[in-house]
Amino acid sequence: MSEFVTAYAPASIGNLGVGFDMLGLALSGVGDRVHARRIDGDRVKIAEVRGLDGQIHPYLSTNADQNTASIAAQALWDEHGDHGAVALKVHKGVPLQSGMGSSASSAVAGVVAVNALLDSPLEMEALLPYALEGEKYASGGLHADNVAPSLLGGLILCPQVLLPGVIRLPIPDGVTAVLLHPDLQVNTAQSRRRLAKGYSMQQWLDQQGLLAGFVAACASSDIALIGKTLRDVVIEPQRSGNVACFDTVTAAAGKAGALGCSLSGSGPSIFALCRDNDARNIASAMEQACRILGIGCQSWVSPMTAPGAYVE
Ligand code: HSE
Repeated sequence: MSEFVTAYAPASIGNLGVGFDMLGLALSGVGDRVHARRIDGDRVKIAEVRGLDGQIHPYLSTNADQNTASIAAQALWDEHGDHGAVALKVHKGVPLQSGMGSSASSAVAGVVAVNALLDSPLEMEALLPYALEGEKYASGGLHADNVAPSLLGGLILCPQVLLPGVIRLPIPDGVTAVLLHPDLQVNTAQSRRRLAKGYSMQQWLDQQGLLAGFVAACASSDIALIGKTLRDVVIEPQRSGNVACFDTVTAAAGKAGALGCSLSGSGPSIFALCRDNDARNIASAMEQACRILGIGCQSWVSPMTAPGAYVE
């Protein structure tokens, strides 16, 4: 039985443009870490939260009722923990309010770390409902499009109607993801509250068709069809106006050969899918377009096969 473990959970692209609340992709090279240690007591506590610079995080609280890592870990501990308590140290690698699934990464890393302290750890798939408790606190909705890929890696279809079941989709050959994070912030819970509550039959038909086409395109590695179907006709038009660089960055990505672009989650991050060989150029083009507007940014190039969370 371990006394001390560290878990890593990657950032992710929620929605992946075409699948609002039900499609997500894990990212490589950026994620959160949670160290978990058994201590005396009876609850999951947060000992500290640090940022990328190693300093105490200026915004995130150590109140265990307000941190997605501890909320998710507590949900697991309540059902499967033994007597005793756990102290968590959270190391944030994912920028806050970035559309990169920051709250989900912490929730997943917290659950995976505490799971490893159990006498009989659960399978990764079984951890999803607990990680979702953390995400629910942060975004106010029951959607797994960040939690599921962060936990399991790769490309995951997770419609609410099937939860806690999720579907691992085949990864298309020759396609890479690029993600640009502009130095802006969007609050997901607020952004969700502003979305229209009703949609037309035509929007429903169009988006269903695009999502079905995209899933089929991934399964058959049909790159042209990925380009045709990677579109969001419902949510993106309501949100893209809140991200000052959206039009400029997506135009630059398109010109550099991207198959398609959209907001990552509720933004402000913007992702593109592209042919493997175009990825570096597209990342540079997106960065350049963003900087020309006077907005600082960072980008990541990630295979669509990025792994999910793991114990280090
Ligand atoms: N799918 C959710 C949304 C969360 O777009 O509001 C994404 O991070």
